[in-house]
Amino acid sequence: METQTATATQTRSSGENARDRFIRKTRELFAKETDLDKRWNGLRPVLAELLSDPDMIEASKKWPDCVPANGRAENLLFYEDPDYGFAINGLTKGQARQGVAARIHDHAHIYTLYGVIDGHEKVVRYDRLDDRSKPQYAQIKEAENVLCGPGDIDLVKPYEIHTELTVGERTVAVIIRSQKGGDFNQGRYNPETNEYYESLGPRQTPCDMMAK
Ligand SMILES: [Fe+2]
Repeated sequence: METQTATATQTRSSGENARDRFIRKTRELFAKETDLDKRWNGLRPVLAELLSDPDMIEASKKWPDCVPANGRAENLLFYEDPDYGFAINGLTKGQARQGVAARIHDHAHIYTLYGVIDGHEKVVRYDRLDDRSKPQYAQIKEAENVLCGPGDIDLVKPYEIHTELTVGERTVAVIIRSQKGGDFNQGRYNPETNEYYESLGPRQTPCDMMAK
């Protein structure tokens, strides 16, 4: 208890909110850890702290619903780091997204840390079975299907195939990417037809992360 009280007092006196603290700690980690796997695994506890912050949880309830349009998903863009290039996104799935199947995809060359802050959803992972020799063809198989809730964090490494499925409630995620999405193609997979294609990632809508 004493430690928590001391931390809260310190935060108030320094004026550093949850967002700014996350950015500072992420920049410190990126400055000292250049091995990408170690860097992104090392970011887990930093994101966990952000996901458990009461002010952050409160703010996330006010983020607008993301709306897919013209074949593209939407992400809220909270921050893009000028030096390290990482980006902080929000992804809200409201009423309109319930029961709508999300596309199975990868994130191309980037690393992503996906953290649920509110609600529950299923994270489904796939293995790729073919040898990647045929264009527009990919054979994939479900490898993991996990129900995630507040505080759960999934590390998505380059080209890992996955999707998130709603389970009938609003879900909100905080997503940290090694590079802002939307400017490069990501892989798309159809396990029924074995079709593979690429298209641009989510459009980025600037938004205030600490929305009051
Ligand atoms: Fe994804």
